[in-house]
Amino acid sequence: MNSPKHVAIIMDGNGRWGLKNKKSRNLGHRAGIKTVEKIIKSSIKNKIKYLTLYAFSTENWKRPKLEIKFLLNLLESFLKNKINELNENGIKIKIIGDIKKFPKKIQVNLLSSQKKTINNNKLNLVLALNYGSKNELLNAIKIIKAKKMKINESSIVKSLYTYGIPNPEILIRTGNTKRLSNFLLWQLSYSEIFFEKKMWPDFNEKDYKKILDKFKKIKRNFGNI
Ligand code: FPP
Repeated sequence: MNSPKHVAIIMDGNGRWGLKNKKSRNLGHRAGIKTVEKIIKSSIKNKIKYLTLYAFSTENWKRPKLEIKFLLNLLESFLKNKINELNENGIKIKIIGDIKKFPKKIQVNLLSSQKKTINNNKLNLVLALNYGSKNELLNAIKIIKAKKMKINESSIVKSLYTYGIPNPEILIRTGNTKRLSNFLLWQLSYSEIFFEKKMWPDFNEKDYKKILDKFKKIKRNFGNI
């Protein structure tokens, strides 16, 4: 039986859930935070070591300014209100993505959350923020060129935002949509992908556990037979 170390999640469907249930996309994002909290707790319970959440993509800047502002404020207040609880529960926060495009005070908040939790080892909570795989690969190539390294698999892996993090065994995408949306394209090469019909705010611990149990029964060949 395989026990997954790393689960990555595309938390899709907040907007549609919000419009349907609260007549507001933003209230869907707010409801999505509750699911984030549940899935963090459940990851610890299920001994997952890395949980990566796609919280803001490089493409999300195309959204209306007010929605972007709401999402960033939500992230900021989540970290402000929850950082002590996350820290007490042994959660280490790691940011992947180019956060220099975020407002200064959010950058400060993100970096101090990383710093505060650096010695924790119960769960690595990886937040993908202004993250896009194409940007990550371009960035890696620039690093390799600047450091005059040889181009090979190892130098690319070393230059990705995810260096030091094992590849996800599992990708979950909620929201009844089947695409990868520029998320961890290199790292997901051999991951098992689970597309979930439910919108993110409706996704719960039971749904998560079902996926983890299904994964454990999969025979993984990695190109072999
Ligand atoms: C996708 O749903 C969701 C996002 C772009 C943002 C997810 C962000 C959060 C849950 C809040 C911040 C996260 C953390 C980790 C504190 P969508 O808006 O694309 O949904 P739709 O497809 O129904 O429009």
